[in-house]
Amino acid sequence: MDETTSGFGEDPLAPGWTPPEIDTTKAHPARIYDCLLGGKDHFDVDRQAAEVVVKALPGAREMVRENRAFLGRAVRHLAEAGISQFLDIGTGIPGPGNTGEVARSVNPEARVVYVDYDPVVAVHSRALLAGVDPALTAILVADVRDPASILQAPATRAVLDFDRPIAVLMVALLHFIKPEEDAHGIVATFRDALPPGSAVVISHGTDGGDPETSAEARKGWDNATSQFTIRGRDDITALFDGFELTEPGVVNVPLWRPDGEPREDWDAIWFDGGVGFKR
Ligand SMILES: C[S@@+](CC[C@H](N)C(=O)[O-])C[C@H]1O[C@@H](n2cnc3c(N)ncnc32)[C@H](O)[C@@H]1O
Repeated sequence: MDETTSGFGEDPLAPGWTPPEIDTTKAHPARIYDCLLGGKDHFDVDRQAAEVVVKALPGAREMVRENRAFLGRAVRHLAEAGISQFLDIGTGIPGPGNTGEVARSVNPEARVVYVDYDPVVAVHSRALLAGVDPALTAILVADVRDPASILQAPATRAVLDFDRPIAVLMVALLHFIKPEEDAHGIVATFRDALPPGSAVVISHGTDGGDPETSAEARKGWDNATSQFTIRGRDDITALFDGFELTEPGVVNVPLWRPDGEPREDWDAIWFDGGVGFKR
């Protein structure tokens, strides 16, 4: 998409038509992420933001790819462990290897509710999921800072059975929650709503031990709809309070149950991640 050809025309069949609820003048985390991943669902303003990130941190593209791969391994692990319901919050623009695709490769009956506060995600999700049984999938535009708007939403309740285990995914999401917005409290609210046997998957940006470079890279989100907050390993681990961390705990994401040998430069990937079960 290109800001110059998108705009707010009324003909949905016109090239580059953009639904009116999509703001193309401000960078959005989902679209910056899409740009870093090499997708095509972003605008000039997102591209400019991604360029700021990559200029400071040339490995950023590799980092987001590793984060996506972590998401896939975690979903597969949980599906193989018997979890068949997923609440994927901060879905991002769905691409190959999205949560439903991975979960249904293990269990064709797996149910997924996709949640994002960015309407662009809903537009792309609807297109991508057009062929999927509606009983198995819902797409919800909601903000994780208001957990009740997700937990009580009719769409959530229609697809997910809260008497059976549910995996809540907050992958590369919580660094968009400012310290004063209480990311730990948000996770705890979801935890308390889940039955035993449920799980949480979290990954979170770190400063890789290089706060100056990290601060430079985070400027990419300064003018976006959300800014980037770094948390340390202890703080990220505390997000799992009340969950039992499964092996290997909270680690740089390439080290989380890799398929084969992990990359040697795993510490160049500035994302920590883990999976916890509610017992
Ligand atoms: C970096 S992307 C991660 C996408 C996907 N989870 C992954 O890891 O591949 C973060 C997503 O979180 C969404 N997001 C950020 N803040 C949010 C909020 N307060 N409520 C819901 N979604 C949010 C963004 O719109 C974006 O799509």
